[in-house]
Amino acid sequence: MKKDDLVKMRQDHVPKGVSQALPAMIAEAKGVIDFSGGIGVLNVGHSPDEVFKAIRDQAGKYLHTCFMVQMYEPYIALAKEMNELVSRKTPMKTMFVNSGAEAVENGVKIAKYYTKRPGILCFENAFHGRTAMTMSLTSKVKNYKFGYWPFMPEVYRVPYAYCYRCSYNLKYPSCDLYCADFIQQKFFDLYAAAESIGAIIVEPVQGEGGFIVPPREYLGKLQKICKDNGIVLIVDEIQTGFARTGKMFAYEYSIDEPDILITAKSLAAGLPLGGITGKAEIMDSVDAGGIGGTFGGNPVCCAAGLAVMKILKEKKLAERADGIGKKVMEKFRAFQKKYPFVGDVRGLGAMNCMEIVADKKNPKPNADLTKAIVRRCYDRGLIILTAGGYGKVIRHLVPLVITDEQLDKGLRILEEVMAEKAE
Ligand SMILES: Cc1ncc(COP(=O)(O)O)c(C=O)c1O
Repeated sequence: MKKDDLVKMRQDHVPKGVSQALPAMIAEAKGVIDFSGGIGVLNVGHSPDEVFKAIRDQAGKYLHTCFMVQMYEPYIALAKEMNELVSRKTPMKTMFVNSGAEAVENGVKIAKYYTKRPGILCFENAFHGRTAMTMSLTSKVKNYKFGYWPFMPEVYRVPYAYCYRCSYNLKYPSCDLYCADFIQQKFFDLYAAAESIGAIIVEPVQGEGGFIVPPREYLGKLQKICKDNGIVLIVDEIQTGFARTGKMFAYEYSIDEPDILITAKSLAAGLPLGGITGKAEIMDSVDAGGIGGTFGGNPVCCAAGLAVMKILKEKKLAERADGIGKKVMEKFRAFQKKYPFVGDVRGLGAMNCMEIVADKKNPKPNADLTKAIVRRCYDRGLIILTAGGYGKVIRHLVPLVITDEQLDKGLRILEEVMAEKAE
């Protein structure tokens, strides 16, 4: 079907709330086609042969049974694989669901049940999903929350370690991460008692909120607060997971083990699969039937997930993420030096961004320019995405199987567009 006809058909049949920033369409893809990787889903690229084979083999056997009716090997094997990846000293257990939001929902449910506490502490600029519970944990109001009331009660929010725009007007490192200390020193007195908080949920690098990379010690400080107060630490690695940041999981830069790890996106190379991996004592606290679902951990998705795990290891994609990130950050830093509208550049592994501002001395978010850069890149053949409150961040999220030639080609387009916009 021709693109114009498809656009018209979409307008007639799909609600406009299911939005699309750029008018791109796809017929077929293999490997790498853009700098967005399906929003962080395609760490192993589009349709790798090994994943395709695993899907085909599994689909030829059976598509569904419901894991709660007849158990099957791909689910159990992938759970074991996840547990081995995460466990350093504590035995872990894993369950699977259909999406990132559903994984967050279940992680929070389990933490509440384990602690018998109602409160959840989350962060400014956090994104945890669009369902009723996860929308409550998500920070950005428009267009994610406004009009979709009421929100889940007992959700509390504090500033994240967003050093470029510190909520306390402090400077790192002299601040000594006051944003984390605030929780123990003030929050528990002024907002909610520690013994009413069941979980702190945090992204180790905030994704949708603007690729905000906190100082390395931040997560450790949060972990200590959790340990000292009997709170479950839930680490949401839906966007940062599976080699993206140069390690299998971003928390590995800061802590040994999370209490609960939430995954989705790149877990099954594009098939819908989310995971909740947590300390066995916490995961097993839930009574039979309290968690699960009809489709969760579908056998085809789990078979794809097992193939993804193999590719990540065999192709050493965590190391590759590091290499990609170094190259991209070098470019972004050069842009920052050269152009007054590049306020901040940040990154961990191959999760990198530029924050676009009015001017370095007046770092007002510049959504119009951000949009214009992204649109011009699109016109020149490069799809790259925005992120962050006020849409002020250009984010780089390529599949980790990208070749140097492909990476250079995309960066060249971006470089030319940046130069054009500076004129
Ligand atoms: C950190 C994080 N948590 C949760 C979600 C929600 O995942 P899903 O869109 O699969 O529901 C996302 C999606 O972008 C995410 O980046």
